[in-house]
Amino acid sequence: MNKKIIGIDLGTINSCVAVVENNKPVIIPSIEGERTTPSVVAFTDKGETLVGQAAKRQILANIHNTICPIKCDMGSDRVIKINNKWKSCSSTDIAAAILKKLKQDAEAYLGHTVTDAVISVPSYFTNAQRQATLDAGRIAGFDVKRMLNEATAAALTFLLDKKQEQLIMICDIGGGTFDVSIVELFNGVIEVLAISGNNRFGGDDFDECIMNYLIKDFKKINGIDLATDNIAVQRIREAAERAKIDLSSITTSFINIPYIITDETGPKHLECSLTRDKFEELTAHLIDNVCKPINQAISDSGIQKAQLSKVLLIGGTTRIPVVQEVVRKTTGTLPSRNINLDESVAAGTAIIGGVLNGDIENIILLDVTPFSLGVMVENSKFSKIVERNTTIPTKKSHLFSTVYENQTEIDITFYQGEHDNIQHNELLGKIHLDRISPAKKGIPQIEITFDIDANGVINVFAKDINSGRVGSLKAATNTSKRNGANFTYNKLKDKHNNKDTNSGFNDTSSKMEDDVVNDSEHHEKWRKKGVCGYCGGDLYKPVFKKVEKCKSCGFMYTLVT
Ligand SMILES: Nc1ncnc2c1ncn2[C@@H]1O[C@H](COP(=O)(O)OP(=O)(O)OP(=O)(O)O)[C@@H](O)[C@H]1O
Ligand SMILES: [Mg+2]
Repeated sequence: MNKKIIGIDLGTINSCVAVVENNKPVIIPSIEGERTTPSVVAFTDKGETLVGQAAKRQILANIHNTICPIKCDMGSDRVIKINNKWKSCSSTDIAAAILKKLKQDAEAYLGHTVTDAVISVPSYFTNAQRQATLDAGRIAGFDVKRMLNEATAAALTFLLDKKQEQLIMICDIGGGTFDVSIVELFNGVIEVLAISGNNRFGGDDFDECIMNYLIKDFKKINGIDLATDNIAVQRIREAAERAKIDLSSITTSFINIPYIITDETGPKHLECSLTRDKFEELTAHLIDNVCKPINQAISDSGIQKAQLSKVLLIGGTTRIPVVQEVVRKTTGTLPSRNINLDESVAAGTAIIGGVLNGDIENIILLDVTPFSLGVMVENSKFSKIVERNTTIPTKKSHLFSTVYENQTEIDITFYQGEHDNIQHNELLGKIHLDRISPAKKGIPQIEITFDIDANGVINVFAKDINSGRVGSLKAATNTSKRNGANFTYNKLKDKHNNKDTNSGFNDTSSKMEDDVVNDSEHHEKWRKKGVCGYCGGDLYKPVFKKVEKCKSCGFMYTLVT
């Protein structure tokens, strides 16, 4: 029997775990019998750690020691102070506690130890957030085999049933994140054309609008500010979420929180009725957050809206009628609901687990990079080498040079992001290249290569063409900040000008030949045979692009028409 690789959707509000059985993904119920597990962790006075329903149930009684949500803070420096003096921890530790519980649930279900997992992450998670998720997986005792974008994972469940080629958009709006993927499904191949999203937008934002309204209304009537009372705020949060959920199916929700606070005049109750129209008015400013990533994904994918075969909605927040309407207006397509809103991400990660351990065959996933990748050049400018939404695996090179006379050392810094100024992008790491032969500025040739594998693992190489000396860096999802795998950096001065060599780097604008597009004789010969000139894999022709692609390594052949 193959070693099972479970799939995990680590959600802001709810997490879900699945596994492939008889070639199909199956949701693993929790020990408590639920199909999803609240992403809530609590520490009790007795020193116990509660996770899931048990933690959620006791929030009001133990508010200072109950942690949720944490997903948005993954990879940040947030230190979570627990009232119990014996504990203070990071978002990674909390995520690890949730993953550990899911691991135990999976082991109880399968009847054996589980060590391998595929975990989904929002497509727009930065490198630091992905690293933190990997760390959490490791702390929980997992060997994380792959990280998968959430909306892409959901699309995989669709691939199992439908064999005809399709161009699908998946919008996943959960509790705290929004993910959009445009994928092409074709004969067992799922090719991601574009991903987009917002790591800080979800159902919580809608709850917040109702909460603010209720607190303001209560203050107007009673002259008491409930915002300073933690327990009252938590009760209002829960009531606001309930009202929001009500308003997805009915047009008026009655909110009633008895004994919300007591003052010298006696106990006060919060009572209010909220209509769907009022809710839509309160949340109107959030709608832009839905349109933007959808429009960006459409424009990045190079397709026309009319070409979309289907728009699928997943994630709890897509149950809100106005959200569905905005997606319809933005895409020009009536969204389809024939996919499980709450479980499809976990099911998709389980499918990739099944592909990795050989339980499922004939599925190929061609994913893309969520961010552009490049280096810092003069004046803190960002020079892109790999554009966002490039199909992975990919390998791209670019030539750079020195900016000072007789410059012999360079610190090369690598970033991911879209901004022209590197300060707005995320630092991935640095390479120091020395012993460059003294020459006039602009003469030395430094070749920078980004090599990204199918898991999104990034390898960067810097080569001094003259001496052949190479520096390398693994800026990838498999390294761990905690284990000190982050690249160390010694700030160096230019020996001759006593300037900071950090800026002593220039884009020569003489772009190296890309590894991606080519029509060289060698590749053309192999392409005509229907075989990849690089790896010998089979070629296929995506429907919406004038290219042929390798099913194995993703290498792209431009078709000259
Ligand atoms: N019927 C409904 N109407 C409106 N909102 C709903 C409804 N049902 C659930 N939600 C909201 O959906 C959100 C939870 O969705 P989901 O479980 O997909 O999130 P998640 O996967 O945990 O989060 P994320 O994907 O952002 O990490 C919550 O904000 C919840 O209030
Ligand atoms: Mg989700």
